[in-house]
Amino acid sequence: MYAERVLSGMRPTGSLHLGHYHGVLKNWVRLQHDYPCLFFVADWHALTTQYDDPQGIVQATWDMVIDWLAAGVDPSQATLFIQSKVPEHAELHLLLSMMTPLGWLERVPTYKDQQEKLENKDLSTYGFLGYPLLQAADILIYRADKVPVGEDQVPHIEFSREVARRFNHLYGREPGFADKAREAVKKLGGKKARLYEELRIRFQQEGDREAIELGKAILDETQHLSLGDRERLFGFLEGTGKMILAEPGALLTEASKMPGLDGQKMSKSYSNTITLRESAESVTKKVRGMPTDPARVRRTDPGEPAKCPVWQLHQVYSDAACKEWVSHGCRSAGIGCLECKQPVIDGILREQAPMRERAQVYLDDPTLVRSIIADGCEKARELARETMRDVREAMGLEYR
Ligand code: TRP
Ligand code: SF4
Repeated sequence: MYAERVLSGMRPTGSLHLGHYHGVLKNWVRLQHDYPCLFFVADWHALTTQYDDPQGIVQATWDMVIDWLAAGVDPSQATLFIQSKVPEHAELHLLLSMMTPLGWLERVPTYKDQQEKLENKDLSTYGFLGYPLLQAADILIYRADKVPVGEDQVPHIEFSREVARRFNHLYGREPGFADKAREAVKKLGGKKARLYEELRIRFQQEGDREAIELGKAILDETQHLSLGDRERLFGFLEGTGKMILAEPGALLTEASKMPGLDGQKMSKSYSNTITLRESAESVTKKVRGMPTDPARVRRTDPGEPAKCPVWQLHQVYSDAACKEWVSHGCRSAGIGCLECKQPVIDGILREQAPMRERAQVYLDDPTLVRSIIADGCEKARELARETMRDVREAMGLEYR
């Protein structure tokens, strides 16, 4: 069985907070058990908006990787690497830039949105416009099937699909393609080959999408095909020519519902965060300082949990019995707010304990992180080189 490959990237923002944990990292940890996963630090992407201040990127990268590891991302299951350590991303980006219409980039919704949001910065740069194409290169270079991203990034994945399609259309017609594809069909073996042929004809004559899916499933479960033959057979099925770059799909990550200290969504820009490895004292102090239902001026005033951000944290950290204790105790002024906050503090500290423990190993010996990343970069680079060989070959840029 050909295992689908998962890839995702994160800009190096430094220390991550519990919103990242509940939104993104828990999802990565789950995925790493089910798929071969590649997770990388998108340091070049940081430069698209932070070109005037690149100094902090390296430290932010190491801090963030430690947080990934602390959260349970396991380097023995997933490949962790840094984008700029795999320069092939830049080569693919450049080659793709030659055939990407400007209009496609200008139409990506984040382009105008971000420019408006960061209006005090000059983002009318080449790099910023090309950001989604760099992201497409990140994805296509690993022939990733699934890309876990938040909703805001879905247009970027759709854009990557269009770029892959255009590339395959332009360069996927190798000389003698049909003959090579027919040879490859034979290699599927009698029964599978007949079925594949039937499905291919069904799609090409009747446009039956289901036939394509069934045909792809046959290819997915066939192990002994070379990469070249696999691509030919995918392309032959759809009638497009050799499929050199695979079209990725978005794996929508549900938006984090993690509330921040003020009841808004937890986010660095609202200064309402608790970091993954924040000290127990600081967690305690922050939660104790949280605003509560403004109606509870005195301890004897009853309150309404629905009007209190602490209640939202109880939804994440407390069981039914505790929540019952809170809603009753709050409305009857039976408990004080500090009392009410204690189980939340305990819940956060309990969640952080294993993270702090895992992180400590890497803080004590930073060379461990360096070597995890060095291994990951090497593995990633090998995959990237393989794709680049096919890309250069398809474009006739081999110079042999
Ligand atoms: N653009 C993504 C973000 O800002 C980060 C990113 C860069 C990425 N390259 C990627 C995500 C490739 C998924 C796949 O969050
Ligand atoms: Fe909020 Fe709890 Fe105080 Fe009620 S008792 S106002 S839920 S902190």
